[in-house]
Amino acid sequence: MSGVVEIKDLVVKAGEKTILNGINIQIHKNKVNTVLGPSGGGKSTLLKVMNRLTDLDRAYTVSGEVLLNGKDIRSYNTIELRRRVGMIFQRPTPFPLSIYDNVAFGIRLQSKTSREDLELMVRSSLEDAGLWSEVKDDLRRSATTLSGGQQQRLCIARAIILRPNVVLMDEPTSSLDPTSKSRIEDLILDLKEKYTVVLVTHDIAQAKKVSDYTSLLFNGKIVASGEGGDLLENSSSASIKSFLGEVSAR
Ligand SMILES: Nc1ncnc2c1ncn2[C@@H]1O[C@H](COP(=O)(O)OP(=O)(O)OP(=O)(O)O)[C@@H](O)[C@H]1O
Ligand SMILES: [Mg+2]
Repeated sequence: MSGVVEIKDLVVKAGEKTILNGINIQIHKNKVNTVLGPSGGGKSTLLKVMNRLTDLDRAYTVSGEVLLNGKDIRSYNTIELRRRVGMIFQRPTPFPLSIYDNVAFGIRLQSKTSREDLELMVRSSLEDAGLWSEVKDDLRRSATTLSGGQQQRLCIARAIILRPNVVLMDEPTSSLDPTSKSRIEDLILDLKEKYTVVLVTHDIAQAKKVSDYTSLLFNGKIVASGEGGDLLENSSSASIKSFLGEVSAR
């Protein structure tokens, strides 16, 4: 059951403005669940709801139900919830610390762990994030001196060291060059072996490459959803066609 998210009748407003308007969606365990859609459609807001980052801004009112592993997310304490539901942002967000201290950060906060155990955990997280071989000789180097793609993989290592159930990724490759982007896409496919992934993107090629399930979010509503990443091609809906037009015009 761990790694399943169910969203029922979710409505999110910021002040008077309705951002998400009646979302029902099932996030499947150990799959890449992609949310695709145009700018301003509510994709980032949907991710923020899932680990209650929306609690941090009083402008939001959230109604409906979000269940993690069958339990309402409001019944978790937020530290526990955010450990279980990790988030990777559009731009890499390394702390101004060494590579090692970035990855060890969450573990040091939550528990007393021996130095030997911590070293093993840092190593295996960096391996799982596909970064170990590039940094293993220089773990004391400042994380801010890594390339953008390396920083993003570092942030993934920092999230997965906590053994989350779900990894939320908000356009994780949009600030990266094509090679770094492709590496992260391959990594997303590896990550689903251990974690449930929710990926937000407006990159259709990326959605096709990595998705097990895709939902199209348009003006705060899910207007189409289906298996794989191909639902766009098979749809006749006007909103999907307009989205495709918008994307190909970029
Ligand atoms: N705290 C807030 N206060 C007011 N409006 C907000 C707030 N947060 C989000 N919005 C509005 O809600 C809409 C959806 O925003 P959101 O960031 O979820 O879109 P998005 O799909 O992630 O877009 P993008 O692809 O550009 O990242 C936008 O119109 C945005 O301006
Ligand atoms: Mg966004």
